[in-house]
Amino acid sequence: MAQVLCQLPEFKDENLIVGLGTSDDAAVYRVSDDKAAILTMDFFPPVVDDPYTFGLIAAANALSDVYAMGGRPVTAMNIVCFPTCLSVDIMSDILRGGADKVIEAGAVLAGGHSIEDDEPKYGLSVMGLVHPDRVLTNTGARPGDVLILTKPLGTGILNTAIKADMLDDAAYTKAVETMAYLNADACEAALETGVVGCTDITGFGFLGHACEMADGSGVTLEVWPEQLPIIEESIELAKMGIIPAGAYNNLAFVEGRVRFEADIGQEIRDIMFDPQTSGGLLISVAFERADALMKLLKDKCRTPFNIVGRVKERSKFSIEVTGKRF
Ligand code: CO
Ligand code: CO
Ligand code: CO
Repeated sequence: MAQVLCQLPEFKDENLIVGLGTSDDAAVYRVSDDKAAILTMDFFPPVVDDPYTFGLIAAANALSDVYAMGGRPVTAMNIVCFPTCLSVDIMSDILRGGADKVIEAGAVLAGGHSIEDDEPKYGLSVMGLVHPDRVLTNTGARPGDVLILTKPLGTGILNTAIKADMLDDAAYTKAVETMAYLNADACEAALETGVVGCTDITGFGFLGHACEMADGSGVTLEVWPEQLPIIEESIELAKMGIIPAGAYNNLAFVEGRVRFEADIGQEIRDIMFDPQTSGGLLISVAFERADALMKLLKDKCRTPFNIVGRVKERSKFSIEVTGKRF
């Protein structure tokens, strides 16, 4: 994808604050001195069988990129691909799930587009608003910062197990609740603490998105795997080799940019490469404000979160995965 994108002409506009150049979560366009629009879209095929639940998850995932940029979602439009052979009731349940998530986010559903396709797909195109000086970017990590991840990893592995009908109800519920949970509270906590560096963890997995943050910010991220929030059931599944193909693509994508300490278990490595659906925010917060942010998250955030590493001066590697803490 990156090779294709770099063949496009280079667009220059002084009001485009964030564009194609930095692999950030969304585009940001200044419309006035105190207002910028955040523009993003995302859609994918069903990750769960229940259409309403799929709608919730796909919408939470699409809205997430607005939160990753420090914004407030304002309008959303449906993107729908649907086969004629399936009942329209299924489509209406998917859309109802999406609409309920948009309401929860305080945004309005303003339209959309649907086409016929062999496999159903659903998502949203979202516009959010942010003050141009308060944009969170994946280029904002600074040496000395502390890294906080606001949702547990493992949803890609769990989705693979769901497709193979290998997951018990308790694990299914945990996976679904995590994926459908909005990153709104984590975003609010980050903004209240004066954070600058942020991205969300989605298809490239924890290490893929962390690499983009490291390279975009010109720093090295030190990651402490034993501190990572992980949905417990995914560890056993990873050991059994239930790993989505995307994890291997993600591994290839960061090849040579990540240094692992030798004693880190293969299953934990796999989970760090696992493509996430609607994952949490990876927040880079100044050391002296990390405690305040953790306190705010304890009040607001209903998913497991933790300090997962720190930011260092740039070394040879984008990421150093070590066993050590401070
Ligand atoms: Co994103
Ligand atoms: Co995205
Ligand atoms: Co961002």
